[in-house]
Amino acid sequence: MCGIIGYIGKSKAAPILVDGLKRLEYRGYDSAGISTINNRNIIVEKDIGKINEIEGKTNFSKLDGNIGISHCRWGTHGKITRENAHPHVDCSGKISIVHNGIIENFSELKEMLIKKDHKFKSLTDTEVIAHLLEENYNGDIEQAARKALQQIEGSYALGILCSDEPNRLIAARNESPLILGLGKNENFIASDVPAILKYTKKIIYLENNEMAVLTDKNVSVKDINGKVIDKKIHKIEWNSELAEKGGFEHYMLKEIHEQPRAITETLNGRVENGNVNLSEEINLSEQELRKIKRIVIVACGTSWHAALAGEFMLEELAKIPVEVEYASEFRYRNPIIDEGTLVIAISQSGETADTLAAIREAKEKNAKILSIINVKGSSIERESDSVLYTYAGPEIGVASTKAFTTQLIVLYIFTLFMSGLRKTLDKEKIKGLIERLRKLPLQMDALLNNDEEIRKIADIYKSRKNALFLGRGVNFPIALEGALKLKEVSYIHAEGYPAAEMKHGPIALIDKEMPVVFVAPKDIYTYKKVLGNIEEVKARGGIAIVIATEDDKEIKKKADHAIYIPKNLYTLSSILAVIPLQLLAYYVAVDRGLDPDKPRNLSKSVTVE
Ligand code: F6R
Repeated sequence: MCGIIGYIGKSKAAPILVDGLKRLEYRGYDSAGISTINNRNIIVEKDIGKINEIEGKTNFSKLDGNIGISHCRWGTHGKITRENAHPHVDCSGKISIVHNGIIENFSELKEMLIKKDHKFKSLTDTEVIAHLLEENYNGDIEQAARKALQQIEGSYALGILCSDEPNRLIAARNESPLILGLGKNENFIASDVPAILKYTKKIIYLENNEMAVLTDKNVSVKDINGKVIDKKIHKIEWNSELAEKGGFEHYMLKEIHEQPRAITETLNGRVENGNVNLSEEINLSEQELRKIKRIVIVACGTSWHAALAGEFMLEELAKIPVEVEYASEFRYRNPIIDEGTLVIAISQSGETADTLAAIREAKEKNAKILSIINVKGSSIERESDSVLYTYAGPEIGVASTKAFTTQLIVLYIFTLFMSGLRKTLDKEKIKGLIERLRKLPLQMDALLNNDEEIRKIADIYKSRKNALFLGRGVNFPIALEGALKLKEVSYIHAEGYPAAEMKHGPIALIDKEMPVVFVAPKDIYTYKKVLGNIEEVKARGGIAIVIATEDDKEIKKKADHAIYIPKNLYTLSSILAVIPLQLLAYYVAVDRGLDPDKPRNLSKSVTVE
């Protein structure tokens, strides 16, 4: 949802900004721009397209100046045009700004500013801020920003430059993420950590209604009324290589391959000697956890699919009733939450606006919030009572991959933890499950190193227009995730369904053009039924691509293609089954000549409702 990076220091700003924008591009890539101050003049270069394309056709990365702001856009107001790209400049050409968020009262402000003879060049909500700053400017840009912010309603992460004050960079935040990076004789602002990880690991998280003034030597944070706030400096543990492509063609492929490591790190220190050890991390007492009668999980997109798998795990093993809600719907139907309800929020970014709004709704109803988050210091984390991290590392590819499987792992260990606490599983059983869980990273490694069949299948079916993904039980959310991955990176229409539901409608779609991907590892629950569903597809001329357990000879006879995964327990097999689905989507996208890291119209972090 738009990315921002700003720099002030001794180095040339533009190359640092362009480099940072490339790392933030997952937040928006319809247009981008940079503004620097050189010899007390504001310079702006911006255009439509991806950063590399813009770099080729403008002076973008060569602008002079040791202070600058930049932006990559995921448009909300105004079409994708050069004029609507950020930075935006006031009438005098002395003030430039970048913005992530939505100014809700921009129409009223614009009308007022036009009456005062301000000339607008774009159709964005953002441009009103530049003119509002101009209107309030009286030789002090900090003061002007404070006054302007008091007039603005809505969400913003802002970077502001003023050519009359070339030694100050102003930043402000309300409901859109913004961090400050502290360097030596240089300081940064950014939407997200990976953009500045190369330069510093010392971070300040701006909170709502906070402003910051940065010089090359100093950073001061104040509230919107000018009161100085003493902020904590956080040390980031991620290493900067994790935010690079590391020899892979795309972040998506790199992140798919990182899953064995990500899972190992997510398990580290949490499962030891046959025990799940979460008591110290979970900020809820055993008494509070024992009181839980029901769990409601809120999430969006891929994280919502993880929630559905979590529902299966928690009900099956911990015997706790679970409901899964789209975070975007949750607050619009007066959900029933009481003190026996634990609300779990799942979010990779920790910034998804709908998930944040859902936990606020739940908090108003006095629920305790446990969040499962990948990005430390994020808004959802800060508003939760307790947090369990997924240690996936920075996920840059827009399509979520390693975040999903680590979410499943956290849900699984949380389930085992609750099962121990509630005594729905005995110690020996938990120990056995942990042993099998521990096998996952190696089993995934084997799968990742053997993707020939998947590449072949991708090549054969890359030009199909539709695909169905079917699974039952815990494999149903995995099928949903497979369909989502394919549609978002390859633009092939794909639907996920519970396999048995196929006969209630989707079966009408089956013909010789329709590939149907079955998630069908061998189990004692639903496997035999899924074999029947495969027959139904074949009988109608459809193509059956089946993800099956390694020794399954039956499948070979029935399916057009079998993709084998190593043997493990039912629920853990479903986590392994995710890998071929991710790879299939990736290879289909690449075979279609698409960039899977930047699927059209999408943004990694959806910070608007
Ligand atoms: C799909 C994808 C999205 C996100 C969704 C929620 O590949 O990435 O569907 O899962 O936008 O994002 P988070 O998990 O950051 O709340």
